[in-house]
Amino acid sequence: MGLKDDIARVLIPEQDIQKRVAELGAEINATYTDEDELILVCILKGAFMFLADLVRCMNVRHEINFMEISSYGTRAMSSGVVRILLDLEQNIDKRHVLIVEDIIDSGRTLDYVTRNLGTRGPASMRVCTLLNKPSRREIDVNLDFVGFEVPDEFVVGYGLDFAEDYRNLRFIGILREEAYRI
Ligand code: IMP
Ligand code: MG
Repeated sequence: MGLKDDIARVLIPEQDIQKRVAELGAEINATYTDEDELILVCILKGAFMFLADLVRCMNVRHEINFMEISSYGTRAMSSGVVRILLDLEQNIDKRHVLIVEDIIDSGRTLDYVTRNLGTRGPASMRVCTLLNKPSRREIDVNLDFVGFEVPDEFVVGYGLDFAEDYRNLRFIGILREEAYRI
């Protein structure tokens, strides 16, 4: 028995993720110039693996920074109460910012982050998310770079967790229902 046994099926295999991340990197390279002095803001923890692969597909100059957000709620449902656990160590006034997220579900977390960072005077702010679950949206959010649209299922792997497990999987999979009931 291992973590992989809790996966009902693989939704996005490793090769598909790698191919799509390379395409996203190319889109980002085409959007910015070195003079933009881009700052990537990785939303922890879920986006850490995506960020690591994405920046290796980028050749436009950039800095990386991190922000950790917690959204209270049960299991997969975010309550909309969002809190900053780790803030940027860097000023983003007049800077070009690209937020890097793992998944946009209700949109509440991203809405909070963009409104919060928006008050800090960035020159521009865009969003890159690996996954988008549009069927669950509660708040309209603008997404500039999207890896994959996923169905209304709880997904894990490639940075995404359930109760802090499964982040290390190289693919994105759907959890078996038994694995939720703990
Ligand atoms: P939102 O605020 O509802 O958009 O939720 C966004 C956050 O909830 C993401 O950054 C994830 O951390 C988490 N989340 C939402 N859906 C999933 C999922 O299917 N698997 C794992 N985490 C998820
Ligand atoms: Mg997250």
